[in-house]
Amino acid sequence: MDLFSHIQPDISTITQTALQKIGQFIPENEVEHYCNDLKSIINYYDKKYYVDADSPISDYDYDILFKQLKELEEAYPNLITADSPTQRVAKGLNETFQTVQHLVPMMSLENSYNIQDLREFERKVKESVATNEKIEYICEPKFDGSSIALVYENNQLVRAATRGNGIEGDDITPNAKAIKSIPLKANFSQFGIHKIEIRGEVVMQLAVLEQLNKERLEQNIILKNENKKELELFKNARNTAAGSLRLKDSAEVAARKLDAILYQIGYAEDKNGNNITFSEIFKSHDDNLKLLSDLGFKTPFLDKTLSEDIDQIMATCLDWQDKRDNYPIDIDGMVIKVNNTKLQQIIGKTSHHPKWATAFKFKPKQGFSTLENVEFQVGRTGQITPVAKITPVQLMGVEISSISLHNEDFIIDKDIRLYDTVIVERAGDVIPYIVGSLPEKRNGKETKIEFPKNCPSCAHLLYKNLEESAWRCINTNCPAQLEEHLIHFVSKEAMNIFGFGEENVRTFLKENLISNIASIYKIDYEKVAQLEGWKVKSIQNLKEGIEQSKQNENWRLLVGLGIRHIGTTTAKMLAKQVAHLLDYANWNTEQFMQLEDVGPKVALSLQAFFSDESNIELLKELEVLGLNLKRTEQVLHSEKLAGKTFLFTGTLTQFSRDEAKILVENNGGKNLSAVSANLNYLVAGEKAGSKLTKAQKIESIQIIDEFEFLKMIE
Ligand code: IVH
Repeated sequence: MDLFSHIQPDISTITQTALQKIGQFIPENEVEHYCNDLKSIINYYDKKYYVDADSPISDYDYDILFKQLKELEEAYPNLITADSPTQRVAKGLNETFQTVQHLVPMMSLENSYNIQDLREFERKVKESVATNEKIEYICEPKFDGSSIALVYENNQLVRAATRGNGIEGDDITPNAKAIKSIPLKANFSQFGIHKIEIRGEVVMQLAVLEQLNKERLEQNIILKNENKKELELFKNARNTAAGSLRLKDSAEVAARKLDAILYQIGYAEDKNGNNITFSEIFKSHDDNLKLLSDLGFKTPFLDKTLSEDIDQIMATCLDWQDKRDNYPIDIDGMVIKVNNTKLQQIIGKTSHHPKWATAFKFKPKQGFSTLENVEFQVGRTGQITPVAKITPVQLMGVEISSISLHNEDFIIDKDIRLYDTVIVERAGDVIPYIVGSLPEKRNGKETKIEFPKNCPSCAHLLYKNLEESAWRCINTNCPAQLEEHLIHFVSKEAMNIFGFGEENVRTFLKENLISNIASIYKIDYEKVAQLEGWKVKSIQNLKEGIEQSKQNENWRLLVGLGIRHIGTTTAKMLAKQVAHLLDYANWNTEQFMQLEDVGPKVALSLQAFFSDESNIELLKELEVLGLNLKRTEQVLHSEKLAGKTFLFTGTLTQFSRDEAKILVENNGGKNLSAVSANLNYLVAGEKAGSKLTKAQKIESIQIIDEFEFLKMIE
């Protein structure tokens, strides 16, 4: 069987596939599956954005995926599930910052993509003010950064928070103070304002990004000479701005030279705590920008356009789209707002966005290039991926020369030929994509791309399953798969062998020092010593890393084996079920399907793996070599917490989070990862955030501190 073929398609591939379906007819029997994919994709990027402060997808792609899911759910309401991102209210926040509530919720914007959308926006605006009169619109850039809310009290900056889930955000005041364009004082009291919340976007100027990367490159030369880990370059301005806001050291934030552009007043009150109705003091958005600008804030005041004609607004948007590259800051669209603040109030808002504003999203940037060659790569699963080699083209500051063509069907559907002029797109951070070719540019020299019949690595005949679009090499000894497979085996996710990186695997394979998994534990270190760059210390480290990995908990081995469809979560679950991994040797698919979250696909894959004689031999050999195949037995100190569930939040002083979890398990209790009605005890330390707030709303949860917890197991 295909021993090394478990890897699930990576998120960018699933994302690209989902994006390709937008605008196409989705057959009814495929809708549910597609919706599930969309939910997982959006949830994945939400987690990346809200928890990890990372955003590997452009807003544009994210928004159209979200819109697609929403539209499908509207058409098929039975597909709406509680875990759908369209149903989400609160999102998890990074617990290292204190959570604070915004004075009024920070809303999103509805998106427009074309003139029809803008006309529809105008129609709805007119409908809600019940007028046929012209309405003035103000149009300004939509800055691609990280939103921020600043609170000034008594003319002093007292708080700065990230957007978070719109209701609550992270308190990042010290970091905001490190941004020079944010005034620490501003004279609001001259307008009778005692407390005010202003919203805007923290951005990084593109020139700053370039400069920071240049400095890092210079530093890397030194680090490399000193054999130290090199610094990663910043990928784009938005991620760097968002990531910088969450740094622990404000001095480091200051060195990032961020900028803040303020474009909205969220809330204001007078000395007596009375809410000031803004429209009464400042008649228009334009006035507000002017006010902020006069008080020393950076605003889009000089970049705005005012017009009563929506066609004119559209023309302005397109003009900006064309010229966006000349602007010093990344912008991903334009925001169109009704200028008159009184009208804004009348028009109102939904729970998600104001109805008086819309975002016109720019098309992702495109470039043109020539398809020079197609290389066929063999992945660890044996899947053959055609990769386009194009004449290098610059797109959003990155040189692109190599792009995946996914599979044979992709090439056929798009009728892409060798030497064709191709349109390349790169939206935000998403991997580059070939939109299509330009047949009108052909001169007759273009040729059909021939898909190979044999594996480019081992020449084994390729195989294609009827239901799949991918060709595969099913030779388990295929060297290309072996390399990838071994890289996976030693990786952090799997055996986590310290001192054994991707490059080492490649070199050792080339030098015949390793030939399969077991051979890793039989390396001839005298031969390693003869390789260039290997010194006593590094060999010692490698040896220790390999030795230590033998003691790994056995789920790591399960992950490392590369069983199709088995990732960390399933492996951890599987490892707990049996005393020894070889106990699975006699299991049938029905038995596997009895396990939590194991469906037919996973069960079949497991059964196939464990019924294969050569796999069993491999496991036996690994055990002889000293690897741990046994279940890690729990040391049960007491049953005091039996039947009870726990979750720890906030700063703990008596033990670490991991130690706390072990204490729970060792006393017969169970750890939960989120607040729910199933939770019995929330152990809250200092600075507990959203989890505490959520738990307080569920009556059955007991909220205790560390000492009360320790008492329970005394
Ligand atoms: S106005 C009530 N104006 O875009 C909504 N937002 O996609 C207030 N953004 O969360 C937003 N530039 O972070 C507005 N000139 C601009 C903007 C802008 C960027 C961001 C903002 C918002 C997001 C919505």
